[in-house]
Amino acid sequence: MSKRLTIFEMGPRDGLQNEKTLIPTAQKIELINRLSECGFKKIETSSFVSPKWVPQMADASQVFEGITRKAGIRYTALTPNIKGYERAKQAGADEVAIFASASEGFSQKNINCSIEESFERFAPILETAKADSIPVRGYVSCVVECPYDGPTPVQNTAKVSERLLQMGCYEVSLGDTIGAAIPETTEAMLDALLKVVPAEKLAGHFHDTHDFALANIMSSIKMGLRTFDTAIGGLGGCPYAPGAKGNVSTLSVAKMAKLLDYDTNLDIEKLEQTQDFILSIKEAASL
Ligand code: HMG
Ligand code: MG
Repeated sequence: MSKRLTIFEMGPRDGLQNEKTLIPTAQKIELINRLSECGFKKIETSSFVSPKWVPQMADASQVFEGITRKAGIRYTALTPNIKGYERAKQAGADEVAIFASASEGFSQKNINCSIEESFERFAPILETAKADSIPVRGYVSCVVECPYDGPTPVQNTAKVSERLLQMGCYEVSLGDTIGAAIPETTEAMLDALLKVVPAEKLAGHFHDTHDFALANIMSSIKMGLRTFDTAIGGLGGCPYAPGAKGNVSTLSVAKMAKLLDYDTNLDIEKLEQTQDFILSIKEAASL
């Protein structure tokens, strides 16, 4: 088994999208530029969603325009529909992500359509991205529990994940959107998934509501996953998932990986400095 872990940095997108006070574009750009020096290969830079739904991400194009791109890093973005995809392409996103839900309740609240309708919206994105040679990642939210529908049957998570891969996503990120998972439920969910999808095609995306994210990552590593989404400073929360806390902290995962002798390519000291930077901005913004 590989002793390498890929850490996908979510801070600028999943981390900031729920902040009530608008963070100035220049500070988002500085955050991304600092993250670019930490050793990541992928940074989720922003999202091209409706600015009415998520005002914090309204400056996605300006953020992409302002960052200093470092060779070897993919600067990625969320795209809920073809309009978002065209905006992302125009801004020069290196990779895009579509986001589905394993539960109907969250699909409706987050993207205003059913799971089935969401696949109809995603199809043209995958088709166009293929022609443009832009890789597409898939997210599945509420893989274990939904804030509206309660516990998610494991088959629903497996079905939506399998379908995203069949449509052409190169990888599916499994979102524990409200941080409800514990190792037992994580393992039960992965057990069902690994019957239909290989571990190399899956990533773990754990929110840390009850401090179980690291334990869930440990369980996922044992079951063969090697890619995890994290956010600097443990920032985050989803505007359409009441009670969702931050993503698991990048620094915590990087330190855990080091102790377990997994290579992440991340510079711990630079991560600490970048964490101090963004936490001071967050503190100032909420004053
Ligand atoms: P809708 O209102 O049903 O869409 O929203 P619509 O097509 O009827 O459009 C309404 C208006 O939005 C129109 O403008 C469109 O032009 C505009 P108007 O005519 O009223 O002036 N619009 C757009 N503008 C810019 N970019 C676009 C776009 N699309 C439409 N792409 C929609 C449907 C999907 C757009 C909306 O529900 C939306 O933007 N939702 C996004 C919510 C979101 O960003 N949630 C957080 C990200 S997901 C997440 O955090 C989970 C994850 O981290 C994994 C996990 O933890 O589980 C990924
Ligand atoms: Mg998330």
